[in-house]
Amino acid sequence: MAEFKPIAQVLDKKLEGKKVSIRGWIYRKRDQKELIFLIIRDSSDIIQIVITKDSKAWKAAEKITLESSCEVTGKIKGDKRAPTGFELQVDDLKIIGLAERFPITKDLSEEFLRDVRHLWVRSRKMSLIFQVRAAVFEAIHEFYKQKGYFEVQSPSFTGCSCEGGSTLFEVKYFDKKAYLTQSWQLYAEAMIFGLEKIFCIAPSYRAEKSRTRRHLAEYWHHEMETAWMTFDDLLKFEEELILFVIKYVSDKRKKQLKDLGRDVSELEKIKAPFARIKYEDAIKKLKQKWGYDLTDDDERKLVTEIGKPVFLTHFPREMKAFYMKVDPKDKKTVLAADLLIPGVGEVTGGSARIEDPKELTESLKMFKLKHADYAWYMDLRKYGTVPHAGFGLGVERLVMWLAGAEHIFDTIPFPRTADRLTP
Ligand code: 4AD
Repeated sequence: MAEFKPIAQVLDKKLEGKKVSIRGWIYRKRDQKELIFLIIRDSSDIIQIVITKDSKAWKAAEKITLESSCEVTGKIKGDKRAPTGFELQVDDLKIIGLAERFPITKDLSEEFLRDVRHLWVRSRKMSLIFQVRAAVFEAIHEFYKQKGYFEVQSPSFTGCSCEGGSTLFEVKYFDKKAYLTQSWQLYAEAMIFGLEKIFCIAPSYRAEKSRTRRHLAEYWHHEMETAWMTFDDLLKFEEELILFVIKYVSDKRKKQLKDLGRDVSELEKIKAPFARIKYEDAIKKLKQKWGYDLTDDDERKLVTEIGKPVFLTHFPREMKAFYMKVDPKDKKTVLAADLLIPGVGEVTGGSARIEDPKELTESLKMFKLKHADYAWYMDLRKYGTVPHAGFGLGVERLVMWLAGAEHIFDTIPFPRTADRLTP
């Protein structure tokens, strides 16, 4: 049996004149009287193949349709006019799965592409973005491996809320009511007492009704929690992670980013330190009053104006989560930060956590949360409490930025939103 090579490996001057076999799917087809040009794609790249009328592959080439799967053997030849600089002069073309008329053609609506998502995920654009996405997961794992962190898992079914009730998904749990997790954090806070430095990448669920460019009902949440960490250390740590991911992805996926039309030099320019701005100063810039909740647009405007990633810090306490530590220097604010990135806005949310049991009791009261629901969480402050901090990062939002995707839907294979559960 022929040994099949990935297309990217046969685009090679050294193979010129040699016979190779590849396999993949028909990406484009162009018929001329005496010649048929096909472009084949696999997960690695595309290549033009040429079939002449006198070839024994002619019949199959005439019959083959877009998106059919096939195996091809032929001679490699450099050709500047071919889309990837080489073509394959075919002697043998074997149809494996003849495709019916493929429903996706040019210029289709977003809605239609979502109906046929199961077919759209194989497109070149989606495949390139998913390769960037996979590298982001790899990079996060590599970063934490180097830092000596432990990966820790937490349940998806929970009994209480982490990020407020308005985006909680309620589910039937035997004869009780449960929620789908919004965050790994509360469980992580229990785990740091044994492991100190931990992280996860897991799905989080938010019942977000509004349809925006950057919200999903189910997204992949990278979170970190660290014992003994201060607020200042937290921001430095986030900065370091983001720079590591940029470097890793722009090294390992340079070609994919280029094929996506992403200007990699724009990413490579980003350096520490990121900008920092307090909420109080941000609303002044936006000509708003204390208590104003920044919109997605405001966030993007701020980053564009500042010209690099920026930590928005020291939010009013009542606007944020119950577990955030009050700033001892300015008690109406909390030691929390959202990192805003160009074109997207918020990509991380993090804070120092309340470590004092009395302060936590007051906070639960202030946020009108039932003490009984958080009794186990309170215990963590009773038995050897410790200063600690952590953050969460929306992986799809980071992929949006790195890949230059317009919409969060482009960064996850099967996006879940209020109006979509299938395919
Ligand atoms: O700011 P959030 O709500 O923070 C938390 O959940 C904390 N418990 C994290 C922690 O400290 N361990 O969410 C964190 C990040 C946001 O900055 C955003 O990037 C992303 O999660 N995110 C979403 N991404 C896509 N769709 C949604 N509906 C999202 N909601 C939050």
